[in-house]
Amino acid sequence: MIIALDGPSASGKGTLARHLAKALNLAYLDTGMIYRALAARLLEAGSDPADSEAARRAARVLTVADLERPGLRREEVGQTASVVAAIPEVRAALLELQRQFAMRPPDGTAGAVLDGRDIGTVVCPQADVKLFVTASAEARAARRHKELLDRGEPSIYARVVQEMEARDARDSAREVAPLKPAPNALILDTSEMDEEAVFAAAMRIVAARTPSSPAQGPQSPD
Ligand code: DC
Repeated sequence: MIIALDGPSASGKGTLARHLAKALNLAYLDTGMIYRALAARLLEAGSDPADSEAARRAARVLTVADLERPGLRREEVGQTASVVAAIPEVRAALLELQRQFAMRPPDGTAGAVLDGRDIGTVVCPQADVKLFVTASAEARAARRHKELLDRGEPSIYARVVQEMEARDARDSAREVAPLKPAPNALILDTSEMDEEAVFAAAMRIVAARTPSSPAQGPQSPD
């Protein structure tokens, strides 16, 4: 079983993906971390992230171990990830890694949950369940602001809004694999929902789409 979760930053898709993977005993891949790991490599090497040749070379040698690098959640890394992610050759070089994970998830699990921007449209168009997880810009900015403060990082709300808008615009406007719902994706607007409600709604959708899945039974995210 493959579950594809796409959506903008701070929409709640990452938390939902982790909960679904745990409850359904599926492997989980946060594909944003792949672009972040690549961005971190380029930042470290002092390369220009818009230099497509350098980015493509780095993308070719990226491994799953790179996803464990510290500091990948930093805002600078996220912004740079969004820049390198717009380079078509980079996306092409990273496609196979993601598809391999979906088709042959590690540890013999029966399937995978992948979250990102183009999972339902490009990486796994054959996914059994496709959700486009979104929320209002205000709700997402408030969540990201809180997340940064909780992590002990300095955060100014107005700046969070600005950076989020810049990233959303870049991710949605790029020519290759832009952020958009797959035609057969269900839209889940989490603006007014807490984590438990989002999880319960997603489990109902999974159960309806995959009648023989464990999502049929009672589950909780923990
Ligand atoms: O989900 P995230 O914030 O960790 O992603 C960081 C950036 O990576 C995001 O701004 C765009 C890019 N990305 C992408 O283009 N395609 C994906 N499947 C996942 C992330």
